[in-house]
Amino acid sequence: MTLAHRNVDAEAVNATTPASSSDSAARVVDPDARARETEARMTDDERFSMLYSLMVRIFGTNAREPRVPADLPAVAGYVRGVARLGIPALTLADTSLGVRATDDPHAGATFEPELARAQGTLIGKEVRAFGFNVALGGGINLVREVRNGRNFEYVSEDPLVSGKLGAGMVSGTQAEGVIALVKHVSLNASETNKFFLDAIIDPAAHRESDLLAFQIAIEEGEPGALMGAYNLVNGEYTCGNRRILQDIVKDAMRFKGWVMSDWRAVNDWDFALKGLDQQSGAQLDECEWFNGPLRRAYDEGKIPKARISEMVRRMLRSYYAIGIDRPRAAEAVDWAAHHDVALEIARKGIVLLKNDGEMLPLARNPQRIALIGGFAQVGVLSGSGSSQVRPRGGYAAEVPLRSHPLLGPTSMCFFGPSPLAELRARLPQTVIDFDSGAHVADAVALAAKADVVIVNAIRHEGERFDCPDMGLPFGQDALIEAVARVNPNVVVVLQTGNPIGMRWRDKVRAVVQAWFPGQAGAQAIAEILTGEVNPSGRLPVTFPVDIEQTPHPRLPGADVELGTPIKVHYHEGAEIGYRWFAQRGERPMFAFGHGLGYTRFAYGDFMASGGETVTARFTVTNTGARDGDDVPQVYLVDADGDTRMRLIGFKRVSLRAGASTEVSVTADPRLLARFDEASGQWRIRKGTYRIVLARSATDHVAGVTVQLESRQFGR
Ligand code: BGC
Repeated sequence: MTLAHRNVDAEAVNATTPASSSDSAARVVDPDARARETEARMTDDERFSMLYSLMVRIFGTNAREPRVPADLPAVAGYVRGVARLGIPALTLADTSLGVRATDDPHAGATFEPELARAQGTLIGKEVRAFGFNVALGGGINLVREVRNGRNFEYVSEDPLVSGKLGAGMVSGTQAEGVIALVKHVSLNASETNKFFLDAIIDPAAHRESDLLAFQIAIEEGEPGALMGAYNLVNGEYTCGNRRILQDIVKDAMRFKGWVMSDWRAVNDWDFALKGLDQQSGAQLDECEWFNGPLRRAYDEGKIPKARISEMVRRMLRSYYAIGIDRPRAAEAVDWAAHHDVALEIARKGIVLLKNDGEMLPLARNPQRIALIGGFAQVGVLSGSGSSQVRPRGGYAAEVPLRSHPLLGPTSMCFFGPSPLAELRARLPQTVIDFDSGAHVADAVALAAKADVVIVNAIRHEGERFDCPDMGLPFGQDALIEAVARVNPNVVVVLQTGNPIGMRWRDKVRAVVQAWFPGQAGAQAIAEILTGEVNPSGRLPVTFPVDIEQTPHPRLPGADVELGTPIKVHYHEGAEIGYRWFAQRGERPMFAFGHGLGYTRFAYGDFMASGGETVTARFTVTNTGARDGDDVPQVYLVDADGDTRMRLIGFKRVSLRAGASTEVSVTADPRLLARFDEASGQWRIRKGTYRIVLARSATDHVAGVTVQLESRQFGR
């Protein structure tokens, strides 16, 4: 939403000033017991005061909300505390990619949960330094739709990768004493008409895909909170969906924290009866449902006291478990160290997609490079919406772009430094000319004189909008084709959050997927082009040849008036991304898990054992001349005669040239199972299962079959 919260003031300081916990409460270590004890001492007024958050600035008018403390910066939400009981107020800040000053690129492409944790840690430290205590990051919706404007905020199309990296982010943040969450439960897979979109899905398939990502993140990350989504699932708004929130998330997955709504996603007070614990940004909804109407319903006996108490207890449990009632001493942020993490994620997240004839790295000193397009003389593009980060020192440029009929304007925001400056710094003997690409003839004239052409292509993506197709805007596809006609050495660097079509892919020699690479992005791009850094990112999403290969060639909701209720039948069920391609026997343009580098890796000694689950072992050897990272992947490809592809394990390894390592991965048995709705459990059918060791979802290096026992387990 176009909300002022993303422009958090630099001077944001301890706005919450939570009262310190009483000695007696602090002695009770068990957060459940403490939550029960505190909740029992509360008055109803106090309980109800915690059940909704308020936006600091009122959407539409931009006026300040008088009910929040006057010195609170414009964060997304504020929840009252209860000073007499030492219950702190909450201040909720958006943090999908960074808080204010640090922006990180697609962590999903690093395939490295530890790095996601490092990202979570720095977010926790920054949130705390600003005086806030809830980080609204953790976007782990699966990438079902390659035009979704928000995919740059999400991790991947795969439940294991998304769940593990989501857990990493959450635990990093929470170790800093800041509550983290995962969002948006569930199936908010596209932006178009999302408030009126009913996602229809087979419930078992839902458990095996999007909900499995949430389940893994909940189990491994133990987030203090969870955020619902805007859309409906199988006929019920997710924020008022008893099946999802109560039966699945709270009962089956044993989630212990509280469920907050998304901002403007509550339509009735009775969502409280269906598992929602808190209304977010209450002024945005048609009514402050969890303020007046919920209280009236309670007074009229329509909602039991036990449920209101449970809502509050769930919140308090997270406050105590994560320790926001015991604020730590203020610590100065080590901005240089945080920048290093952003740089590390950019280096490991950028994916070298294509590199014909070892076009890259660039020869040590090419005489003349033409750098064309994408504001490469200014900075790197960032994704927009509620996760938009404003770097310290501000944007290098801001270009107003479009406006949503309900939610207002949005711009393209660029972070400095520029790729041009970073390249020049690394190639002092090379003449690097820049052309904006605005006039194709000028760009072609420059390209014709260069040894190498680098086209820096961008596409604005963000919350509220989907991309209309898989093309590049501003005529950039035609621009690339035109320069490729006059120069055989074209490298394309893509700054997009999603796969694009690349109709020119056979006419260029190298393609680098840089995503929205964050505040250290220009440096990482230049390092990879020049070979200072060996690229090692892997695609967390399948890049289809074109939209016709995907389950929904027509963008859901694109052909109706905003506000018209629509149904999207996710007929592909759990077979998303590479799983869909495997089932259909289609080859994508670039497969999930694909990524090249400047060295080579050989795999050997692949073995796998069966029984209750699969454990696979193998060796990886760096057979090239350079040190580098690899991400070997293990997939299930056939389950007792059914084509069923599942990533069951992956591991990032760093190897010096010539070095080897042994890797072992054990599958989460749910990835070998089907969810059985009737029993509410996972079920593995006894039989023969085929397991492959692979470089990507389509590049299989070795395969074995294992026998699995019949099993029914879990929830
Ligand atoms: C987004 C959430 C975000 C919230 C608060 C909503 O528009 O969907 O992801 O946390 O705004 O800013």
